[in-house]
Amino acid sequence: MEKTIDENKQGETLVIPQKKENTKKLFIESYGCSMNFSDSEIVASILQNEGFNTTQSLEEADLVLVNTCSIRDKAEQTVRKRLEKYNAVKRTNPKMKVGVLGCMAERLKSKFLEEEKIVDLVVGPDAYKDLPNLIAEVDEGRDAINVILSKEETYGDIAPVRLNTNGVTAFVSITRGCDNMCTFCVVPFTRGRERSRDPQSIIEEVNDLWNKGYKEITLLGQNVDSYLWYGGGLKKDFEKASDFEKATATDFAKLLELCAKAQPKMRIRFSTSNPQDMHLEVIKTMAKFDNICNHIHLPVQSGSDRVLKAMNRLHTREEYFTLIDNIKTIIPGCAISQDMIAGFPTETEQDHQDTLSLMEYVKYNFGYMFTYSERPGTLAERKFEDDIPESTKSRRLSEIIALQLKHSEFRTRQFLNTTVEVLVEKQSKKSDQQWSGRTQHNIVAVFPKGDFKIGDFVNVKITDCTKATLIGEAVGLSKNN
Ligand code: SAH
Ligand code: F3S
Repeated sequence: MEKTIDENKQGETLVIPQKKENTKKLFIESYGCSMNFSDSEIVASILQNEGFNTTQSLEEADLVLVNTCSIRDKAEQTVRKRLEKYNAVKRTNPKMKVGVLGCMAERLKSKFLEEEKIVDLVVGPDAYKDLPNLIAEVDEGRDAINVILSKEETYGDIAPVRLNTNGVTAFVSITRGCDNMCTFCVVPFTRGRERSRDPQSIIEEVNDLWNKGYKEITLLGQNVDSYLWYGGGLKKDFEKASDFEKATATDFAKLLELCAKAQPKMRIRFSTSNPQDMHLEVIKTMAKFDNICNHIHLPVQSGSDRVLKAMNRLHTREEYFTLIDNIKTIIPGCAISQDMIAGFPTETEQDHQDTLSLMEYVKYNFGYMFTYSERPGTLAERKFEDDIPESTKSRRLSEIIALQLKHSEFRTRQFLNTTVEVLVEKQSKKSDQQWSGRTQHNIVAVFPKGDFKIGDFVNVKITDCTKATLIGEAVGLSKNN
């Protein structure tokens, strides 16, 4: 069982701008983290060159691709359910081919082909460039699979096709994989070793997005603060780099600066930061540039030193507090959000209380909270028994969520009677008379449309709020337009 305050987008069907000459129809949907949504844009780009346009109708698809998530058991069950749905559709459209992408493909490999008869194609996160060959194999009637993980692939040379875009915000991926080996986490196994993308190609993408009218980018990686470019290759091989490569290396603080300077009016966000890899230089760079948003997603997972150690999170509770204090000193009012896991193996009531007291100290703006889900092959699975009863996990999770809601409300209320800059993203879900956008602190704000349009930076006086949403009146266009 799991609950989140701000549920990630799930199972969104993506629409690709149509190319006239393309004749084949692709239905692609993504589950899980932002990186999967971003990867689907790379896949769409690769397949657009292979004659595929997207369709939102599963029934008329020639090829169905599902980009999958393995982070918790529930995420995998959701995909299994989707496969059942594809199976039903295939009865009316027998020519339809089905492919599985992403973390489940990597984790289950050929088992997928054995377990799920509907699946024709299994492709891991580093093998998307092989899709044209794999699809050709499937067309000849054979199942096809490529789950080889790479030490170099960053897809830096592929211009993503922006899918289901609002034309205002976009993801730019900067690293792939993760070397951190948190004991609960399946990502290092499904996404492989950490690699950084050439800063030049990142800046080109940012410039291109600006030229196309985008106003906000999120630099994406499993662990962005660990970004390091010294000419390519794995981070762990940095010691072997030449003196020149070392002297000219780009770390995350430098990359942030490069992006902020390349497009001084583009809002810049990043996600995710592992506290152990976040350095003062990054915080100082954020403070230096107005266009880097004052929000840090800083998952801590637990407030107990003992549990942090068992999770192989390489910092203590005290070190985390020091980091939080530094952030708040250098960037006053910086928004901070969390990820928490309730019921990690061996977690005691005291450990849980430590999590609650850590939350009391930080008073996060918002968070994503989960019960522990044992993942096959992880270090935690091998080392610990999943010994916390589900009922205890759920109760602890409820307490964590209740406290977070209280803190979210406290933080949101702090904006009452202030004027904030909102980047308009879309029409409010609740009213067609209102725009919806986000502040630099990543808080959703709604206000009457007036003459403003999507993509405008608007100054909004906040007059009311719910726990998570600011409600206000526009006072005029921001100088940042
Ligand atoms: N660095 C990554 C973290 C990926 S996982 C990022 O870019 O977001 C996202 C969150 O899922 C983690 O921070 C953790 O809170 C949660 N999570 C990961 N493995 C989990 C597991 N086995 N059980 C429950 N939650 C888990
Ligand atoms: Fe997972 Fe820890 Fe990396 S949560 S993605 S192993 S930073």
